[in-house]
Amino acid sequence: MSDKPRILIFAGSTRKDSYNKRLAKAAAAASQAAGAEVTLIDLADFPMPLYDQDLEAQSGLSEHARRFQDLMRSHQGFAIASPEYNSSITGVLKNALDWASRSRPEEPLVAFRGKIAALLSASPGNLGGLRSLVTLRSILSNIGVFVLPDQLAIPRAHEAFNETHALKDAKQQAALERLTRQLIEVTTRLAPTS
Ligand code: FNR
Repeated sequence: MSDKPRILIFAGSTRKDSYNKRLAKAAAAASQAAGAEVTLIDLADFPMPLYDQDLEAQSGLSEHARRFQDLMRSHQGFAIASPEYNSSITGVLKNALDWASRSRPEEPLVAFRGKIAALLSASPGNLGGLRSLVTLRSILSNIGVFVLPDQLAIPRAHEAFNETHALKDAKQQAALERLTRQLIEVTTRLAPTS
């Protein structure tokens, strides 16, 4: 295994033309350029049932929930691009995090504890989905993730990306590069390697 920090990147949207997927892709490129080993996934490839404790008691984690959880376990850092739905995170993202939190009793929250996360958001609105990050920061912090104080919200997302889904604005791109560099530096220093 390489000694580069392993960063898992995904968006909280399954929409085909999602702006947050574009932002996740841009974050993946920046993280790779900054020296991370990056895994970029699409939650659409991990369809999970709506979390139900009776369902879990009967059948445990579904194949996709287990695969997603395994990815979170095996990466030291996360970059999550979160859409804002009604001032909060999407049901898809909360559902995926809830399934991933249902780990083995001997290793509670092993997919999260001690991991480092950078938060991003994109929205066609003027706040760039910023309010979803308040919720996401609270959820992750409460389950043991070190969430970087800096974050990036991209307003007017329908105008923000070029045809290759890179950020058009040089200042936004520089902010993305700063945030991903920070994620990699902090992950290298703090996160467990196994
Ligand atoms: C939205 N949208 C939205 N946008 C925003 O800035 N603040 C909000 O509170 C909401 N609320 C909201 C609720 C619901 C149910 C939907 C479907 C949409 C708009 C949202 O930002 C827009 O659809 C984005 O395109 C969603 O992100 P992706 O899928 O493009 O990544």
